[in-house]
Amino acid sequence: MDKIQQYIETNKDRFLTELTDLLKIPSVSADSNYKNDVSRAAEFVKQSLVAAGVDKAEVCPTAGHPIVYGEKMIDPKLPTVLVYGHYDVQPADPLDLWDSPPFEPVIKDGKIYARGACDDKGQVYMHVKAFEMMNREGFLPCNVKFMIEGEEEVGSVHLGQWIRENKERLKGDVILISDTSIIANDIPSIDVGLRGLSYVEVEVTGPNRDLHSGVYGGAVANPITILCEMIAKMKDENNHITIPGFYNDVLELTAAERAELNLAPFSLEEYKTDLQVGDVHGEKGYTVLEQTGIRPTFEVNGIWGGYIGEGAKTVLPSKAFAKFSMRLVPNQQSDKITKLFADYFTSNAPPSVKVVVKPHHGGEPVVTPTDSVAYLAASKAMETTFGKKPVPTRGGGSIPIVALFEKELGLKSVLMGFGLDSDLIHSPNEHYGIFNFLKGIETIPHFFLNYAEMMKK
Ligand code: BES
Ligand code: MN
Ligand code: MN
Repeated sequence: MDKIQQYIETNKDRFLTELTDLLKIPSVSADSNYKNDVSRAAEFVKQSLVAAGVDKAEVCPTAGHPIVYGEKMIDPKLPTVLVYGHYDVQPADPLDLWDSPPFEPVIKDGKIYARGACDDKGQVYMHVKAFEMMNREGFLPCNVKFMIEGEEEVGSVHLGQWIRENKERLKGDVILISDTSIIANDIPSIDVGLRGLSYVEVEVTGPNRDLHSGVYGGAVANPITILCEMIAKMKDENNHITIPGFYNDVLELTAAERAELNLAPFSLEEYKTDLQVGDVHGEKGYTVLEQTGIRPTFEVNGIWGGYIGEGAKTVLPSKAFAKFSMRLVPNQQSDKITKLFADYFTSNAPPSVKVVVKPHHGGEPVVTPTDSVAYLAASKAMETTFGKKPVPTRGGGSIPIVALFEKELGLKSVLMGFGLDSDLIHSPNEHYGIFNFLKGIETIPHFFLNYAEMMKK
């Protein structure tokens, strides 16, 4: 057993107890009722960095939720790794689908269950503990800066400005992020791409007020029906998105690149069994790995209107609503896509209804290099701790700030995540494997050691 494994063995119970305390704080960034808890979580993260040995730590206020910044500069001549993560979490509802309350963490079958266990408190905390180890054991080989934000789950709206205002102190060589998944515990992988996002809400108004569905029904447009028809028009029979110009900027991969992407281990049968679906339903001509990695999407995230209470109410509603998200791939741009969507969606409305499109947040897609020093350092670190070389994969999710780091700081990121797609992030019963948590704490110091060593050359 090496000194890294030894340190983890000695301290793992404490690591888990500390993580449990962080998970108890309901830092839901989307809901203003939790504003105070979000701040408490920021304070907790700051204190944990101080306890782990940073020289400076600060809770930086923004117009929204605060950003926690911490640093340990050991030598300006050594490389600097910027660790990014987020301490905010998604709302926990529907609460009744949780087997145990989302903010009362429990350990069961080798996993810790709580909202944020994997996304991203558990993964952030791996970095805090890996840093603690390198610092206390006296082998920290690089300078470290932490920026742990509280608005990732609501689009990182204030982080961009904060980065622009703090460019000087954010100077570094690479950004290291653990906020993604591996393929399986025995198949390590590193995401080398993330999709962008365009998020919109629509309101469809029929008559100026709710009507009796018998007195007026049959003559007046029902906005729910119209909304459903308009949604149905968004894709054709091949599940191709019909928005004119939507695919114009999509970077088509070469046959060789597609073949390589499809080498990643994947079983369609297991995928269907896991989700209990009779079949998948993606864009024709592409595999599941392609549909979720290199192709853009249009999804309905929510739809509502009319009467949904107990019993029956014969109403012809005045309004219907929906929320949509489009995942984007290189070289699509979120503003452009939002506009293409709004023009097309509005043009599909019959004269019997009015449509309002409200854009929410957006984010740009990214592809990260596989030939950089940082990628190689991460790959070698995972190879050491998992005993297998990680597979480069394209992640389907979005971390919009990654594209911004590149634009504002000129820095590339390495997405060395340790979650599993089955960890139920954003869903009831989110959990994080203790194996994954500890494997992260073990792998991160190897990344630092490899990176420092490789940067010397
Ligand atoms: N950590 C996720 C993103 C993720 C998960 C990437 C798994 C790859 C694999 C992140 O916290 C997240 O949920 N992002 C949001 C975007 C944000 C703008 C709300 C998402 O992808 O929906
Ligand atoms: Mn996340
Ligand atoms: Mn998330």
